[in-house]
Amino acid sequence: MMNNLMEGKAGLVTAAGSGIGRASAIAFAKAGAKVMVSDINEEAGNETVRMIQDLGGVSAFFKCDVSDEEQVKALIDETVSKYGKLDFAHNNAGTSLQQGRIGDADSEAWDKTLKITLYGTFYCIKHEVNAMVKNGGGAIVNTASGTGVEGVPNMAAYVASKHGIVGLTKSIGLEYGKEGIRINAIAPGSTLTPAIENWSKMAPEQYNAVLKAIPTGEIATPEDQGNAAMFLCSDLAKQINGVILPVDGGFVAGKLQQ
Ligand SMILES: NC(=O)c1ccc[n+]([C@@H]2O[C@H](COP(=O)([O-])OP(=O)(O)OC[C@H]3O[C@@H](n4cnc5c(N)ncnc54)[C@H](O)[C@@H]3O)[C@@H](O)[C@H]2O)c1
Repeated sequence: MMNNLMEGKAGLVTAAGSGIGRASAIAFAKAGAKVMVSDINEEAGNETVRMIQDLGGVSAFFKCDVSDEEQVKALIDETVSKYGKLDFAHNNAGTSLQQGRIGDADSEAWDKTLKITLYGTFYCIKHEVNAMVKNGGGAIVNTASGTGVEGVPNMAAYVASKHGIVGLTKSIGLEYGKEGIRINAIAPGSTLTPAIENWSKMAPEQYNAVLKAIPTGEIATPEDQGNAAMFLCSDLAKQINGVILPVDGGFVAGKLQQ
């Protein structure tokens, strides 16, 4: 479905070579925005650009590892120089590399998880707000997670990163409102990305248990996440700031009666 919610706007999506980021880049483009697609994986990012161009949208690729501040700054500079401004940004890159109980944690995996997921989001926000102040405002959306508001055993580095993103989003929501910049986060529940789709085939019983715990009985799609991110950056959401929006069929609203 095409709409004109982002007509005339330009911005970027990180980790847009797959899953939620790809669907988000497509959602922004379908809403009329020019989209800088960014990913560490050049081939995957270029494929997203092709998908957008096939829909008649305007898009380009810029390679960026979000855990490197210089690369993040270069991504934002390139977006501004190509499209003249930065109206929106979806900071979506995140990964879970440390698994198991904390006493056995591999500190290197812990560092890497935080560096990509939490620090990467921080580097993006820092350089994005500076670009947005110059063009009189903008809107940022971060990808948090249901694990940004609830604990999960055996993945503390990821959970801590996502809680950190929630804290960043709320705090920065208080800092730039007068300069016309809003910042929000989506908090996806389990989402049917390629990895989860593979897992659903390999472990159908566990997958069905996940489905059963979702109040709507349906797993979110990457498109559901992308549409929510796009809405939060659109002018329809102009009074929504500092919010963590669960996109999870009601999963974090409470426990279902068994
Ligand atoms: N899939 C889910 O169920 C789910 C649930 C909650 C939150 N999330 C969050 O959504 C975001 C996207 O997840 P997904 O499942 O769509 O991922 P995905 O695995 O489908 O895609 C991840 C993309 O990130 C890119 N990437 C990896 N490291 C990077 C880096 N350092 N810099 C830039 N790009 C990098 C990869 O190349 C890949 O294209 C993540 O922040 C994840 O934590 C996902």
